[in-house]
Amino acid sequence: MAKTFDVAIEALESSPDAPGASGEILAAPARAPLPVAAGKSFFIETFGCQMNVHDSEKVAGVLLARGYHPADKAADADLMLYNTCSIREKAAQKVFSRLGEWRGVTHSKTIGVIGCLAQQEGEEIFERAPWVSLVCGSASYRRLPELVAELESGGKRVMGLDLDTDETFETEITRRDNRFRAYITIIEGCDYACSYCVVPHTRGPERSRPSDAVLNEARRLAGAGYTEIQLLGQTVNSYCDPSSRALNFSQLLREVAGVSGIRRVRFTTSHPNDLTREIIDAIDSTPVLCDHIHLPVQSGSTRILRDMRRTYTREQYLEKISWIRAASRPISLTTDVIVGFPGETAADFEESITLLETVGYDGVFSFSYSPRPNTSAGSMPDAVPEPEKSRRLAVLQERQRQIQAARNEKAVGETHGVLVDTHHASRNQWAGRTTSNRIVNFTSPRQNLLGEYIQARITRSGPFSLIGEELL
Ligand code: SAH
Ligand code: SF4
Ligand code: F3S
Repeated sequence: MAKTFDVAIEALESSPDAPGASGEILAAPARAPLPVAAGKSFFIETFGCQMNVHDSEKVAGVLLARGYHPADKAADADLMLYNTCSIREKAAQKVFSRLGEWRGVTHSKTIGVIGCLAQQEGEEIFERAPWVSLVCGSASYRRLPELVAELESGGKRVMGLDLDTDETFETEITRRDNRFRAYITIIEGCDYACSYCVVPHTRGPERSRPSDAVLNEARRLAGAGYTEIQLLGQTVNSYCDPSSRALNFSQLLREVAGVSGIRRVRFTTSHPNDLTREIIDAIDSTPVLCDHIHLPVQSGSTRILRDMRRTYTREQYLEKISWIRAASRPISLTTDVIVGFPGETAADFEESITLLETVGYDGVFSFSYSPRPNTSAGSMPDAVPEPEKSRRLAVLQERQRQIQAARNEKAVGETHGVLVDTHHASRNQWAGRTTSNRIVNFTSPRQNLLGEYIQARITRSGPFSLIGEELL
């Protein structure tokens, strides 16, 4: 089994030069709010994207600040929270099936549903699962201390569903799951209106964090021993600093990369419409900025892109790809594709395949279109039958597998810097990522490599990873 990290707790006000670099657990500062629920425990199960993963880290911080402690497993927790996703039907079903596991079970546990499905379904969750006591969407997380206090004093159905907000979610303490790679949310919500997507309805309008808050957090993380920062947002590159400094995304990237102690900066997810030459120039000229852009295309057909309301054509997307390819530093590209959007013909689908071939992505996340509530595509005619969607998905994934296998083969013989994040004890192998986000499994005679930057010589390759040995 892969060895995972112990949990690190990073306190908002801890001094940048406080002890605790590389893995030591930082204690909450003396001036953290007084525990009010000493003895109670919590467990959070997280579904969905990295924004949700990081939200869970912050929600855990809210609970720690209230005196809760983490339980080892769901069964032991006094407060069980599901941080949910509703991007596709399957993701939503998974949550309801989890909730169903508590049906008829006698326990004294408080169960809460937070995140995107909570926002989407609202009070309906209490109807479908009456044993749930808390329903809260991410735009209301600032109210969590108050909502949890209400539960503690006997509240039975507590809700936070206000979506109309211009604030972001800040916490006194963040309980981070990884000791070397830390997430920082820089922008929440989404102002696009892609016709298939629930996110604007589940996360609310776009709001950016002031650049000083982002930079202070990056400095604090560097002081606590983190060396890789991942900036997060649904449309991370539409970042627009609300403070008087008014930094744009490329300027913020350069400043985060300049924080002493930070060796790698990543960001996700970029919207093609907001990808500027300045961002590419920043990556090209700043080695700390990782040479990887995740740039979801969704479809290779301009007609489907229009119906998806993606705000760009195939040609405009490809033009931005040509800017990236013109950089002096090779920049790795990954994307998301949806197959079987309503009205997608065999010819449209073929355009998605040719786009993959033209761009030559290093990774593709591909999805079968799933109709969602509150979206305009949900009621569009000309649905593609399920078996045909599955067939297209399989064809696309196979084509991409071949493309990746060929790309990865070129890396054999090269040497890459790797941040080690996993130990596969049974295989006596270590694993980590290159700056271009490729996974390298490698052997080394050394011990305790977690969190180290090593040089690996690539000896073999597969479609999804590289294999190598540490260069000593
Ligand atoms: N903010 C990101 C995407 C977030 S959702 C962006 O704009 O690109 C992650 C991915 O899920 C999307 O890129 C899309 O490929 C997929 N997705 C979203 N809604 C979907 C739906 N209704 N059916 C299938 N896939 C969907
Ligand atoms: Fe969804 Fe589109 Fe916003 Fe991405 S940009 S989160 S796909 S609405
Ligand atoms: Fe899912 Fe919400 Fe993320 S719908 S993908 S958890 S923004």
